[in-house]
Amino acid sequence: MIRREVVDEILLRNDIESLIGSYISLKRAGSNLKGLCPFHNEKTPSFTVYPADNTFYCFGCGVGGNAITFVRQAEHLDYPDAIEFLAKRAGITVVRDDEPKYEKPSIDKNKLLRMNTDAAKFFHQSLFQNTPEARAALAYFTERRGLSMATIKHFGLGFAPNSFDSLMKFMLNRGYTRDELVVAYLAGKSESGNYYDAFRNRVMFPIIDVTGNVIAFGGRVMDDSKPKYKNTMDTPVFKKSRNLFALNFAKNTGSESLILCEGYMDVIALHAAGFTNAVATLGTAITSEQARLMSRYTKKVVISYDADEAGQKAAQKAMRLLSEVGLEVGVIKVPGAKDPDEYIKTYGKEKFAEVISNSKSKFEYNMESILSRYDINLPQDRINALTELEKLISGVYSAAERDIYIREVSAKLDVNPKSVQNDVERLARIQYSKDKKSESELIKQKTAGYRDRVNPDYAKAPAVAKSEESLLGLLLMYPEHRRRVFEEELVSSADFYTELNRRVFEFVMDAYQRGEQPSDLDRIFSPDEVGRITQMKVGRMQLAKNDSDVLYECINSLKCAVRKKSAESVSSIDDLNKLINLKRNKEG
Ligand code: CTP
Ligand code: MN
Repeated sequence: MIRREVVDEILLRNDIESLIGSYISLKRAGSNLKGLCPFHNEKTPSFTVYPADNTFYCFGCGVGGNAITFVRQAEHLDYPDAIEFLAKRAGITVVRDDEPKYEKPSIDKNKLLRMNTDAAKFFHQSLFQNTPEARAALAYFTERRGLSMATIKHFGLGFAPNSFDSLMKFMLNRGYTRDELVVAYLAGKSESGNYYDAFRNRVMFPIIDVTGNVIAFGGRVMDDSKPKYKNTMDTPVFKKSRNLFALNFAKNTGSESLILCEGYMDVIALHAAGFTNAVATLGTAITSEQARLMSRYTKKVVISYDADEAGQKAAQKAMRLLSEVGLEVGVIKVPGAKDPDEYIKTYGKEKFAEVISNSKSKFEYNMESILSRYDINLPQDRINALTELEKLISGVYSAAERDIYIREVSAKLDVNPKSVQNDVERLARIQYSKDKKSESELIKQKTAGYRDRVNPDYAKAPAVAKSEESLLGLLLMYPEHRRRVFEEELVSSADFYTELNRRVFEFVMDAYQRGEQPSDLDRIFSPDEVGRITQMKVGRMQLAKNDSDVLYECINSLKCAVRKKSAESVSSIDDLNKLINLKRNKEG
């Protein structure tokens, strides 16, 4: 948790006008400022800054919030990182105290980060020493792996000399202790109490987080000895399951997708060839945390794993985790090479671009992998392949999509589409009755989400949702309304129909009860949600009328809606369906 006073201080010291003014040019418009929105394309300015309220809002695309919200979106940072970014900008130091405590000697995280930066410098310098071993290491990068000097510098690649204490000496000289080196995983300690450099005779890959800190290292041997890589274990500043190699570069490329590879070397080769949107996991299979991390920066991920069986198996898991967080997924398999690195070196970047643009959807990829396991000229194989493919199609949610696949599969296997369709429908029915409940939940979510992604309940009762928003706008804007509503308990969270608005109400109430302003929305809400909430405020500001009549009107219409609902009246399609089912059950 970052303490509330710290957040307030940070918001106070980062005035919104100068912050946003450093990204786009703003012109005065009355008491506010206007500019071209940095988050969507526009020719006439609809991006507005309200200095009095320390708020911004874009009438074009609906982004909005305070300085923290702005930095989350402009710099692609999560809440704590955005706070850190603004703190740095204002010259404040924040110490986070939410991460698990470490049993090893306690050490300040900022110091740990400084240590890593110093170590990265040492490794990088060591690559350019005039010694046989350094020359060999440099030659490994330039000759064996074909990297240019520019690429080596860009990634800060380095070399850990073949010695037990060369890094240690360098670091002790800079005032760090041996035990601190152990905490950072830069040194090890033997049973007999001797300290030694953790990385020896390896080429080094620094791992940099999205805020630009060196948080860990990977070290590769230069021959075929084992283990091929040695990586920093988790430390107070590094969790391998939560970071991705090269995301610090990839996050700002403005590309509409990320390319996910297995290896550091793949990523480096891709960046060098201009595919600067490539990232890799850090020596382990992808985790859901990493999937979520990617979903913050992109809508689509193209999986480009190694061609071997292990790589293809890992791709299956990646597809699942990535689609679970709502990412569109593409998969490629580089033909005639073991990995993307080798492919690009053998066939060139134009060919790779072609492969990427022909990336397969999850379905196509699975279909091809099923077909590759059978010889469809043999009748039994053909039947088996068909059975597997029908099962695959029956799992596709959209009927139109199923139709397309049915036609594709029947053509491929030369069978009657009608019979494939029958089989698929039967399988789908079985599947449907199996998890009818969760399925119908899913459909509900999907269709609602289609209408309104941020407040999925909105479309079910637009009039009520509107009143909720007006009420929340008033509460967010005016302390006197907060006092009245909360002290006199005029409204409770049970009066809210839409889930988002209920959460907003609870947030405002919670802040009121703590004696705080309801301003730190980013701590709880996603940037999209903060945008919507800001819209509620801005709606009130524009009316510039803070009269109690409006407040009571809103409260009234919420109360009416609640009464109506409990009287089983039909206010939405969903309710109608429920009612019909109810009647049917009674009749049957
Ligand atoms: N890896 C690891 N430890 C190992 C082997 C692999 O941590 N013993 C991780 C590394 O992050 C590596 C990735 O898994 O980058 C993929 O492994 P691999 O394809 O073997 O490595 P590459 O980086 O592609 O190395 P190269 O092309 O040089 O063989
Ligand atoms: Mn490889």
